[in-house]
Amino acid sequence: MDSPVDSPDFFASFYLVATVLFILGLKSLSHPKTAVRGNLLAMVGMTVAIATTLRAPEVQVYTWIAAGIVAGMVIAVPLALKIKMTAMPQLVAALHSFVGLSAVLIAVGTFITHSAHHELNGTLEIELALGSAIGAVTFSGSVIAFAKLQELLRSSPLLLPGRHWINMGLVAGIGFFVFQFLAEPTLFPFLVLTLLALALGFLLVLPIGGADMPVVVSMLNSYSGWAASATGFTLSNHLLIATGALVGSSGAILSYIMCIAMNRSFVSVILGGFGATASDAGAATAKKNVQSAAPDDVAFMLDNASKVIIVPGYGLAVAQAQHAAKELFEKLHRKGIDIRFAIHPVAGRMPGHMNVLLAESEIPYDVVFEMEEINNEFSTTDVVLVIGANDVVNPDAKNNRSSPLYGMPILDAYKAHRVYVFKRSMKPGYAGVDNALFYYDNCSLVFGDAKASTQAIVNALG
Ligand code: TAP
Repeated sequence: MDSPVDSPDFFASFYLVATVLFILGLKSLSHPKTAVRGNLLAMVGMTVAIATTLRAPEVQVYTWIAAGIVAGMVIAVPLALKIKMTAMPQLVAALHSFVGLSAVLIAVGTFITHSAHHELNGTLEIELALGSAIGAVTFSGSVIAFAKLQELLRSSPLLLPGRHWINMGLVAGIGFFVFQFLAEPTLFPFLVLTLLALALGFLLVLPIGGADMPVVVSMLNSYSGWAASATGFTLSNHLLIATGALVGSSGAILSYIMCIAMNRSFVSVILGGFGATASDAGAATAKKNVQSAAPDDVAFMLDNASKVIIVPGYGLAVAQAQHAAKELFEKLHRKGIDIRFAIHPVAGRMPGHMNVLLAESEIPYDVVFEMEEINNEFSTTDVVLVIGANDVVNPDAKNNRSSPLYGMPILDAYKAHRVYVFKRSMKPGYAGVDNALFYYDNCSLVFGDAKASTQAIVNALG
């Protein structure tokens, strides 16, 4: 070794520092209060990781790396500044697809160079086959998830006849060509197994319906971690192995927690909407009348209430109504009304979406409750304001077996004395199904933009 900074110990110790920073960052991300610190820790960790990697003896020429970093920044910085909070899930899905694609490209590149120099061995072949297969599933699955979230494809389940047999055939085909590749490491079996994995990714995500999309996004997050980890083995990079495993396992834990929250079977979602069936949800309620209310009516009811719950949803994010909601909270709080916020685990379009918005407008954490903490309170509540939420308060999820939402726990808003739902039209929520709540006798719709309606109520309260 020329100098101590080029010794394996130097790399190992700085990679260890980066890994510890990533772990501390992840831990801090688990609460809105510490999330900013978590992001900073992870950013420092990533800087340490990149700087250490740039010193690696394998890095001989910096031109291409610099060009890649500059090109990445030119695309990423304006995108990150411009992207709306509501478009985050599709951005995350797109980023997962990049991780998958790079795992495939690194596997292909490593295969080509190592086979040209006759440097392939059994272990490397397994790493290449797994890295490419997991990367390809992640890539194509994430592309479909992106298209569904961006509404380029319809969000309802696309159920191909015999899809489980096709998927099983694809898994068997991938297994067969992995063995072929190990027996004779040529380009043909390698490419075929990668193409079959690409097809599997498409078919696994196509049948997933809108309401189950959150689980899929976090599952693809997990896959992208495992793809990165497999790439770490290929490149003999310990940091990539550890970081990939962190992403893979935290994504898997999040998917599991979300499956429990949504009362979905983890295995069913992984297998591509195993239990999904075509549905006639909404047909039963389609011809009924709804009641509508003006902001002044809502203000009058609020003035006479002693207990109020606000249920925020995706529409609150679209309307950017969180600051108006904070004003409403303050006004009601000053009047001595017991006012709280109820958060459903999949409200909005990403985990913690509503918590982030409420934290942004500095609504105190102690009035923000998770579903299981507050669901018993609705039956003793005078007024519930459903601001831009829809699927997460749909009673069909409890009562209508033919609804795609059936089985998903909901916020029991319908049990309150009076419910007001703020929305602009009769359009359904993300799952694409009608909401039985709108036709309940104790429910009225407040039509209009959520921010304008909330602000009008604040003004009417005087
Ligand atoms: P949704 O069911 O998507 O309903 C959103 C509601 O907001 C709609 O009723 C819409 O009606 C209304 N809205 C939109 N813009 C508005 C505006 N400017 N002013 C007033 N209302 C507005 O929302 P949710 O109840 O939060 O449920 C979330 C759904 O997204 C679930 O199905 C969930 O599975 C899915 N999902 C969640 C995630 C995560 S991780 N949270 C990720 C992907 C998908 P109008 O158009 O009539 O106004």
